[in-house]
Amino acid sequence: MTLTSFGENIKLCVIGATGGLGAAFVDTLLRLAEVEVVYALSRRPLHSEHRNCMVLNGDITDESSLIRCAGEIADNSLALTIVATGFLHDETHQPEKSSRTLSLEGMQQAFLINSIAPALIAKHFLPKMRRQAKASFAVLSARVGSISDNHKGGWYSYRASKAALNMLLQNFALEFRLKNPSLNILALQPGTVNTALSAPFQARVAPEKLFTPSQSANHLLQVIDTANNPGVAHFLDWQGKSIPW
Ligand SMILES: NC(=O)c1ccc[n+]([C@@H]2O[C@H](COP(=O)([O-])OP(=O)(O)OC[C@H]3O[C@@H](n4cnc5c(N)ncnc54)[C@H](OP(=O)(O)O)[C@@H]3O)[C@@H](O)[C@H]2O)c1
Repeated sequence: MTLTSFGENIKLCVIGATGGLGAAFVDTLLRLAEVEVVYALSRRPLHSEHRNCMVLNGDITDESSLIRCAGEIADNSLALTIVATGFLHDETHQPEKSSRTLSLEGMQQAFLINSIAPALIAKHFLPKMRRQAKASFAVLSARVGSISDNHKGGWYSYRASKAALNMLLQNFALEFRLKNPSLNILALQPGTVNTALSAPFQARVAPEKLFTPSQSANHLLQVIDTANNPGVAHFLDWQGKSIPW
């Protein structure tokens, strides 16, 4: 894999660097000759010996922590930011099969991690994106966040929080189309990927449709490399196909 559209000596940021997909993005990007620095932001400590990896420790749900991390990065310097954080379930919350299991805490948690935190990340990291050449701000969304593609229902909080994320990304794209005309804003669907997030829901996934994090990261970097259509947000799958909002 090579990134061809961003030029040489590029600086990148991966947020959620200890997650299944986030760690795969960091690993893949650190191998690329065209990458000069990867800022790897995570709440759990990340240990990397790689000389091009700048580790940032921060909590995406704490705005002061985001401000501190963004402060480590020069304005107008990043070619690419990837937001790979997300929430589907934990010990106390499972995706809702029925409205009977909706809870205030479960909905708050999903919206906090999947919608509100990425918006605060965009607030503090979009000013770090470069303006003089192609720049991309890519956030992992999910196909189930498509309203028009929702024919099954269920997973209320996850679906709605990803739909809200998509709306927020379109707002940022509209606001930044004059501020930074070379900025691409992407909502990405990674496929079904073998990570902790999807682990309890993989039983019915055919083996050939379950990607490793590394496979999915490679697919998505190819999509990011090809996509260059600033001004509006784009909702794309791992093959680069548009998903209806
Ligand atoms: N896996 C799939 O099949 C699939 C399919 C569609 C979309 N996606 C999307 O892809 C993205 C990455 O998912 P993944 O599969 O890589 O999941 P994952 O392995 O569970 O990683 C999730 C990441 O989010 C971070 N995170 C969760 N809660 C957080 C919080 N309160 N504060 C800060 N960070 C928090 C985690 O940090 P820690 O490492 O500290 O826990 C981790 O870095 C998510 O947005 C997900 O919705 C995944």
